[in-house]
Amino acid sequence: MELLINDKSYNVATQPGQSLLSVLRDELNLTGSKYGCGEGQCGACTVLLDGIPMRSCILPAHSASGRKITTIEGLATEEKLHPVQDAFLEKEALQCGYCTSGMIMSAVALLKKNPSPTRQEIITFMNGNICRCGTYNRIVDAITLASSKIKAQSHE
Ligand code: FES
Repeated sequence: MELLINDKSYNVATQPGQSLLSVLRDELNLTGSKYGCGEGQCGACTVLLDGIPMRSCILPAHSASGRKITTIEGLATEEKLHPVQDAFLEKEALQCGYCTSGMIMSAVALLKKNPSPTRQEIITFMNGNICRCGTYNRIVDAITLASSKIKAQSHE
């Protein structure tokens, strides 16, 4: 099957029912997306499918075929990090870092849909992404900062 990941086309042989997360990690060595609960409940495996955040651990790879898949590896360019990545670093919005990739992917989707979210809108949208270290306040701060960074960039 052919998968379009981060604007690059991959031909992969998959097992019936194999999840997109397993294809990314085990077949393509794109290990930025993490396996947390494996049940669609924690958000560590979040990737974007046509810009929509999806839990790749419960998404059969075949259902992603023909759609634009974006993973954490696809956000930064050679020269610079994505503003959401920058903001997470600046606000130190992580502790163990296991949830970070999924958090960032959800935040990217949120800011695409709503470039100026309120604190409450951020909390509501990010509700399905779990951080076991409890860095939620800093994550919300980082997303607020990322929103300003993206707006500043668009005015450059
Ligand atoms: Fe996919 Fe938890 S690993 S939602």
